[in-house]
Amino acid sequence: MNQIAPMLDLIPETSPFSPEQRAWLNGFFAGFVSPEGGAVTALSPDQNAAVMAGAKGDGDDGEAPWHDQTLLLDQRMELARGRPLRRRMMAAMAQQDCGQCGYNCNDYAEKIAAREETRLNLCAPGGKETARMLKTLAEEFDKAPAAPVASAAASPTPASAPGRSRDNPAQAVFLSRRRLNKEGSEKETWHVEFDLSQSGLDYVVGDSFGVFAKNELGLVDQIIAMLGASHIMDVRGKPLREVLQSDVSLAPAPDALFELLSFLTGGPLREKARLLAQGEDPDGDASHLDVLAVMQKFSGVRPHPEAFVEALEPLQPRLYSISSSSKAAPGGLSLTVDAVRYVVGKRKRLGVASSFLAERIAPGENLPVYVQAAHNFALPSDPNTPIIMVGPGTGVAPFRAFLQERQAIEAPGKNWLFFGHQRSTHDFFYADEFDAMKTSGLLTRLSLAWSRDRGEKFYVQDRMREVGRELWAWLADGAHVYVCGDAKRMAKDVERALFDIVAQYGARSTDEAVAFVAELKKTGRYQQDVY
Ligand SMILES: Cc1cc2nc3c(=O)[nH]c(=O)nc-3n(C[C@H](O)[C@H](O)[C@H](O)COP(=O)(O)OP(=O)(O)OC[C@H]3O[C@@H](n4cnc5c(N)ncnc54)[C@H](O)[C@@H]3O)c2cc1C
Ligand SMILES: NC(=O)c1ccc[n+]([C@@H]2O[C@H](COP(=O)([O-])OP(=O)(O)OC[C@H]3O[C@@H](n4cnc5c(N)ncnc54)[C@H](OP(=O)(O)O)[C@@H]3O)[C@@H](O)[C@H]2O)c1
Repeated sequence: MNQIAPMLDLIPETSPFSPEQRAWLNGFFAGFVSPEGGAVTALSPDQNAAVMAGAKGDGDDGEAPWHDQTLLLDQRMELARGRPLRRRMMAAMAQQDCGQCGYNCNDYAEKIAAREETRLNLCAPGGKETARMLKTLAEEFDKAPAAPVASAAASPTPASAPGRSRDNPAQAVFLSRRRLNKEGSEKETWHVEFDLSQSGLDYVVGDSFGVFAKNELGLVDQIIAMLGASHIMDVRGKPLREVLQSDVSLAPAPDALFELLSFLTGGPLREKARLLAQGEDPDGDASHLDVLAVMQKFSGVRPHPEAFVEALEPLQPRLYSISSSSKAAPGGLSLTVDAVRYVVGKRKRLGVASSFLAERIAPGENLPVYVQAAHNFALPSDPNTPIIMVGPGTGVAPFRAFLQERQAIEAPGKNWLFFGHQRSTHDFFYADEFDAMKTSGLLTRLSLAWSRDRGEKFYVQDRMREVGRELWAWLADGAHVYVCGDAKRMAKDVERALFDIVAQYGARSTDEAVAFVAELKKTGRYQQDVY
């Protein structure tokens, strides 16, 4: 027998719906939205046991051929076809192991399969398509055959100390921001500083910092105007304006919002909303539809603010690689943040957290934060080990921290940094610091790649190839290699360059070079922090 999640009474009796509409909406949200914003139906103990039994005795070989962040969802699911549910759930994730969900891809899937995690919408890089696939896969829970074992019931995740996980943030004080690009750059990247001295938080280099940002008030107020509501209206025990600013995501528009609108309208608009809720794109604009754009598209429809808020996703924290060492700046922490801004039609869109850090939060203000401990991204335990760091753009962040740390502990190991960005004149982050580190001898080598200084693109991997012989010599000497920054293209291209260098200067076939790099990864000598 299937257990359904308890019915939620989300739509108040005073709301402008008929009893039939209220019942439908309550049922809809109860089935679709868990209290944390997930979307699953609870399993019976028998079904749970079946899933758990499958998790251990399902004969899966443990391989994950889909674990490649450059593959599309369809390709990943194809590679996972025929595998147990938990493995297909892993394939649905974006494969970046970025930690934004609080897990790596495998652990997030295992937690869902073990019923220890009910939120299906936590994979930020996977976005809506991952959430939709997880929802489809979760429906298979209902079909799981009953099994007599009930011993492996899911245990709740242990509560962590404040600031050690996204579920229990601490407070940090925002201190300052300073732009890292020169005037006229096409980029807008900020060095941002925090005071952690009152937070009880500490971190090690390689960790990331989770930030709970707020939506821009102008956007919030436009949405309230489209709803025809008062910004002080009480929703979830708070003024509507506060809920929209701090609690819910205003981009991209979730399927539940389209479902809600499809119910509240008729005719062709209803059909359009229904198709959008199913992931279709009737007008070719689905990828640009944030919440305000949806309200404008369906401008005649005014959902009740309670129902509207319930149809939105929770606002998720954002992670940033920490760009300081606490040994160099006790009680302090810095980030290197690229401000996301772009235009769709006539409207300027802002990345929530990056623009919050770049322009909205004022010095002296508190904000909820947490430290996301790095998994497999750390300095070598032996301070004598040479390190090679490849970090274009904001990817340089953790390497500034690594260098500060090695300076503070007087590590004798050699340090080689590959940094690249658009223009040498405008986008050379931390140039003075790196120059000083070179002069002092801390930075053994600094190799730069400017992609827009010349007619054709020149990237960090091109520079690596140029100095392949020396790079191979460092590898042969036991160097660890680190890559940070763009997951979709750069990380793969850098890895390819490494294959070529190992093949050419290490006198290996391509297959042997690939195996060599795989071995580096396996032994922790090739580590990535990509997003
Ligand atoms: C482990 C980790 C470390 C990270 N470290 C850093 C770091 O050191 N520095 C850093 O700057 N970032 C870093 N990031 C990325 C960071 O977490 C955020 O994803 C980033 O700042 C954007 O968040 P946001 O809230 O500003 O934008 P969001 O509100 O999340 O908006 C971003 C979304 O806007 C859309 N978008 C963006 N540009 C365009 C465009 N031109 N056209 C159309 N749509 C567009 C895309 O859908 C994109 O996903 C890291 C991420 C991870 C996982
Ligand atoms: N989720 C988000 O919205 C978000 C926000 C911020 C950053 N990010 C991710 O973080 C990455 C870092 O952003 P960033 O602003 O620091 O810098 P960036 O956009 O990655 O650019 C840094 C440098 O890398 C170059 N580059 C482009 N493609 C490359 C490739 N295939 N291999 C090597 N280098 C390449 C760029 O050159 P050209 O530009 O001249 O080609 C530029 O010189 C972004 O690419 C993005 O994936 C995501």
